[in-house]
Amino acid sequence: MRITPSILTADFTRLGETIDSAINAGIDWIHLDVMDGNWVVNRTITFGPALIRSIRERVGSEIILDCHLMVTNAEETWKQYVDAGVNLVIAHIEAIEDPRTLISNLHSAGVQAGLVLNPDSEPSTILPFLSELDLVLVMSVVPGKGGQSFMPEVEEKVKIFRSAIDQQKKDGGRDTILMIDGGIKSHNAKLVADWGIDIAVVGSGLINQKGTISENLDEIIHSIDN
Ligand code: DX5
Ligand code: ZN
Repeated sequence: MRITPSILTADFTRLGETIDSAINAGIDWIHLDVMDGNWVVNRTITFGPALIRSIRERVGSEIILDCHLMVTNAEETWKQYVDAGVNLVIAHIEAIEDPRTLISNLHSAGVQAGLVLNPDSEPSTILPFLSELDLVLVMSVVPGKGGQSFMPEVEEKVKIFRSAIDQQKKDGGRDTILMIDGGIKSHNAKLVADWGIDIAVVGSGLINQKGTISENLDEIIHSIDN
């Protein structure tokens, strides 16, 4: 299982250095949490395309950047994130009207398409689009901030997606990535890896005062391998 940092809990006055140390620790995929002050329950605003463009200029073309759009108007604004240099746009199924058109627009623009669902949303809201999706993201916290507690009740949902993707691959279909996001630490990383998660987003478990990103990453990877 791959680990990708969410930069949400970073010191934004030192974000460049934080990203550099993540890359030096071996990270090659960064998860960018975009919140517009409207969509998430606690009305948080984080950052937008301008910051993402600066991050892309700093990290170069090899690092994968995804943007987790927690916004009310992803279907109108998705292209700003593509133009800012992301490889993958992940939109909330709860916040869009026409997933199929958004997916097709993203693919036509040359980027990958992902859908994400909240802890209380059913897999059936995303399964009809699975064959066209490069990634499905299962939220294991209610979107809105870093540092929240992991919600183990999403296990059933993860396993439904895992078996649907495995069947899709067996039938010669797309190898959709299965990602989880929220409350992942060294004490539960192995649990979700065993559920069949391909990539875990880790925010406060990687970027915190406890240790360096490299130390925290090693601890998480070690917990999965043992
Ligand atoms: C929450 C974000 C998550 C969060 C993860 O709305 O989508 O990516 O930043 O942070 P931790 O790992 O601290 O829960
Ligand atoms: Zn996220």
